[in-house]
Amino acid sequence: MFPTPDTSHLSLPEFKYNVYDPAEDTFLLLDTLESDLEYLNSIYPTICLEIGSGSGCVSSFLGSLLGGSTCLYLCTDINAKAAMATLETGNRNMIPLNPIMCDFSSALRLKNKIDVLIFNPPYVVTPSEEIGSYLIEAAWAGGVHGREVIDRFLPLVEDLLSKHGVFYLVVIEENRPDEIIKFFEKINFKCEKTTKSAGNEKLSTLKFFRR
Ligand SMILES: C[S@@+](CC[C@H](N)C(=O)[O-])C[C@H]1O[C@@H](n2cnc3c(N)ncnc32)[C@H](O)[C@@H]1O
Repeated sequence: MFPTPDTSHLSLPEFKYNVYDPAEDTFLLLDTLESDLEYLNSIYPTICLEIGSGSGCVSSFLGSLLGGSTCLYLCTDINAKAAMATLETGNRNMIPLNPIMCDFSSALRLKNKIDVLIFNPPYVVTPSEEIGSYLIEAAWAGGVHGREVIDRFLPLVEDLLSKHGVFYLVVIEENRPDEIIKFFEKINFKCEKTTKSAGNEKLSTLKFFRR
């Protein structure tokens, strides 16, 4: 129903090879958000935060679902080119995105303020040494079990989310999603899982919210 945002500028030299092109994981997230539109409207979101926004495709799409003027759309990325691409994608799709270059949400003071939190993380299983780049490798290098970046972020989620806040996380089976779900159950969050096969990958979005 809602069109995929225009990201045709990703073929420009400054973005090509430097910014993650929307792929199956991105599109699974778009589908999940669209199916959840009624739920999302029911929590009356005012501040949305996407960690690792890359092209900005997901936040632009969220903006088209919820309305460009009803929410503040914050986006972070450690890759400077990704932050620039996010701004451009927002402009092209007439969604006011606010990209910030930082590690997760480290530049922001948003305790219990985020209504919709999204992270399509670098989840690919790689040697730990591949982690730490500020360039395109940061889009996929996930270290042991593809969990090293994810595990650094998980303890921040409870503090970021507002009372009715919701967190969407993309994972693959190698990331051991059941362990992630248990982590959130221990802090009293519920989980809903949406799974899809894409080539060799079994991709899921995990949706977490307080009980
Ligand atoms: C798999 S890509 C997802 C891009 C986009 N959100 C999408 O769904 O198409 C992961 C993104 O996370 C960013 N990233 C990796 N580690 C990060 C960190 N510690 N803080 C912020 N962004 C990070 C990468 O630079 C990359 O843009």
